[in-house]
Amino acid sequence: MCSTCHNEEAWPERYAVASVKFPSGAEVSFGGKDADGNFVANDSNLCIECHQGRESKKSVDASLAKFTDPDGVDAGIRFRNIHYFAAGATLFGADVQGAYMYDGKEYAGYFEAHPLNKCQDCHDVHALQPKVEACAGCHGTDEVEKIRLNAPDYDGDGDTTEGVKSELDTLAEALYAQMQAYAEGTGNPITYNAAAYPYFFGADGKGYAAWTPRLLKAAYNYQYYQKDPGAFVHNGKFVAQFLIDSIQDLGGDVTGYNRP
Ligand code: HEC
Ligand code: HEC
Ligand code: HEC
Ligand code: HEC
Repeated sequence: MCSTCHNEEAWPERYAVASVKFPSGAEVSFGGKDADGNFVANDSNLCIECHQGRESKKSVDASLAKFTDPDGVDAGIRFRNIHYFAAGATLFGADVQGAYMYDGKEYAGYFEAHPLNKCQDCHDVHALQPKVEACAGCHGTDEVEKIRLNAPDYDGDGDTTEGVKSELDTLAEALYAQMQAYAEGTGNPITYNAAAYPYFFGADGKGYAAWTPRLLKAAYNYQYYQKDPGAFVHNGKFVAQFLIDSIQDLGGDVTGYNRP
């Protein structure tokens, strides 16, 4: 509704949202902070009231706290779902810890370096779809899936002309393969279906019930990537980091990849 964002008492002003708290507890603002250290309101903060996901590294860690063996299958472990379209969590990256970030690794924060770094810079605030014609001026194309500028060869396939999306898609495929190999190893094969709750299924066709803490973290990140279809634009570097780390944590060989 119009009144979701507009203050109808003072039409067409928008509600002034100075900062937004994410599921991890971290508080951020597209308006940054003023000289006194107070958060400054910005229209794009309206978007992240909702587009923040519903879980975080913190909530995943908390849910796994009592399962101390990283490779121990336990029927008490439940899948945690980031939910849909957590674009704000991707854009702010490590600052809000929406994806599962592995201890001891460094992660990219807010993708502020991009000249368009707020939701409304790229998305029409009413129609919502990205204003792709705005990309061509700098990237030479309005086909966003082909955009690549200075990204390293994340997936290590030697192709440095493919779009950032292809780099990340290859890593996500490798992560899925690694999850399947790991699950075979515990004797509990796993499959994924993006369109059917609860997304991960066992050999009996029922919701997957043989999680280990390690597998759950990787699955959380795999689902994260599937459910932010704009992740490659929102913060490709952060995404490459958590996908590669998930593969590595499951015992995969990541020496061929280029972690940014
Ligand atoms: C998701 C939040 C959101 C919703 C919902 C929304 N708007 Fe907006 N609207 C904005 C933002 C943000 C701006 C300012 C952005 C800009 O100027 O491009 C804006 C700008 C406007 C403006 C121009 C205001 C000005 O000062 O020039 C009008 C008029 C408007 N909206 C009408 C509507 C109507 C009517 C609806 C309901 C059918 C609606 N909006 C729903 C976020 C929203
Ligand atoms: C009140 C919560 C809320 C706010 C505020 C909000 N969104 Fe959304 N947005 C949603 C939900 C829920 C969906 C999914 C709707 C669906 O799948 O039917 C969505 C969908 C979208 C989509 C996908 C649209 C599509 O058709 O695929 C885009 C893009 C988007 N929002 C961008 C924005 C931007 C940009 C803003 C800020 C100007 C914003 N949203 C503010 C809740 C919100
Ligand atoms: C640098 C430009 C840019 C910024 C900044 C940006 N987006 Fe996006 N976003 C895109 C593009 C481009 C796509 C479309 C990717 C595609 O279609 O393959 C997209 C996709 C999405 C989608 C998925 C739409 C769908 O139907 O698949 C949502 C939701 C979304 N963005 C919301 C947001 C929100 C909320 C913000 C702010 C937190 C934001 N975006 C910031 C460019 C941007
Ligand atoms: C004003 C120029 C400008 C515009 C307009 C622009 N970009 Fe960018 N884009 C950049 C710059 C500069 C970078 C590199 C930022 C950095 O990493 O420091 C970049 C990086 C990117 C990257 C990462 C590329 C890589 O190799 O890692 C993607 C994806 C991207 N932009 C998508 C978009 C999309 C989608 C749009 C349109 C909605 C858009 N850009 C509009 C200048 C622009």
